[in-house]
Amino acid sequence: DATDKGEFRHYMMKEIYEQPKVINACLEGRISENKVLTSCFGADSDFLKEVENVHIVACGTSYHAGLVAKYWIEDLAGVPCAVEVASEYRYRNVAVPKNTLFLTLSQSGETADTLAALRKAKEQGYLTTLAICNVPSSTLVRESALTLLTNAGAEIGVASTKAFTTQLTALLITSVAIAVEKGLSAEKESALVQAMRSLPAYVNAALLQDEHIQKVSDRFANKQHALFLGRGAMYPIALEGALKLKEISYIHAEAYPAGELKHGPLALVDENMPIITMVPHNDMLDKLKSNMQEVAARGGELYVFADRSTNLHNEDNIIFTEVPKVEEILEPIVHTIPLQLLSYHVAVVKGTDVDQPRNLAKSVTVE
Ligand code: G6P
Repeated sequence: DATDKGEFRHYMMKEIYEQPKVINACLEGRISENKVLTSCFGADSDFLKEVENVHIVACGTSYHAGLVAKYWIEDLAGVPCAVEVASEYRYRNVAVPKNTLFLTLSQSGETADTLAALRKAKEQGYLTTLAICNVPSSTLVRESALTLLTNAGAEIGVASTKAFTTQLTALLITSVAIAVEKGLSAEKESALVQAMRSLPAYVNAALLQDEHIQKVSDRFANKQHALFLGRGAMYPIALEGALKLKEISYIHAEAYPAGELKHGPLALVDENMPIITMVPHNDMLDKLKSNMQEVAARGGELYVFADRSTNLHNEDNIIFTEVPKVEEILEPIVHTIPLQLLSYHVAVVKGTDVDQPRNLAKSVTVE
């Protein structure tokens, strides 16, 4: 029951812990043993063959999910993908190339700007409109041609957690479905689907760091500012980590692509400015390690989230948190979990209203 906190002190924590289950619910019926089932987009899945471009529009946390999808869609399908916040999209002239899919992301399906963007898009000659949404009876679902429900169940905490990771799961399904039509091999599709099957177990494994992260949070809670760094598809996860921290602990947090460090944020780094890095396990690892050295050399305290095979560990100014080693494509989803836990525990230490942060609403239905 969504309105029952069960053993948890806050809805947010309950919802963080529900993620293995709801990710499973999001995958259910959408993948077979080794394939993505295109029937999940409804009877009319022909758009998958025709799509030559994707425009993703959303707000807040949902926008961050869209930013991750850009990496997946362009990487797996080779299809150009642009992502924009709805409040910008709705008020400008947008160039719409032929055969462009208009994709909205929304937990509630009632966000005013996202709905306005959809209504505008319907006049712009898009191939079709697809909503990835958590609420089946929502306006967004009603007004979109196609829907892929995230199946996260009711989310009550204002800071979005399970809605985000299920959006990512649905976006991964969509990315692979488009890629298959663009010539992704059956072998690669099968490997991706196998990886997706492991997601609930990986998320469970990530949750095992809860106690450790709680200890880390004690050290963190007296900070005034924080800088999150990521590269590639982990950059949007850095944005989401910073947003979570801002929303519920009121600590000023910013996210940067790690490669931009020298273009400004490095000037802010000292012992009072913790740096949080999500370390991917790919050819960017060495580059990120050198960014970390730049930070350490300036007395910055590094909170590092990485799997063990990166050979990173606790050092003088490195506070290491282990994240399970997973297929690269899944890293953005699995690395989200420790960041949710970090912001949750920091907020609890600070004594803020975790589920109902000041000035914020669960769904922004007016402009
Ligand atoms: C509000 C909520 C966020 C959410 C955003 C977009 O700001 O507090 O958690 O990400 O709206 O909402 P949506 O329902 O469209 O995903």
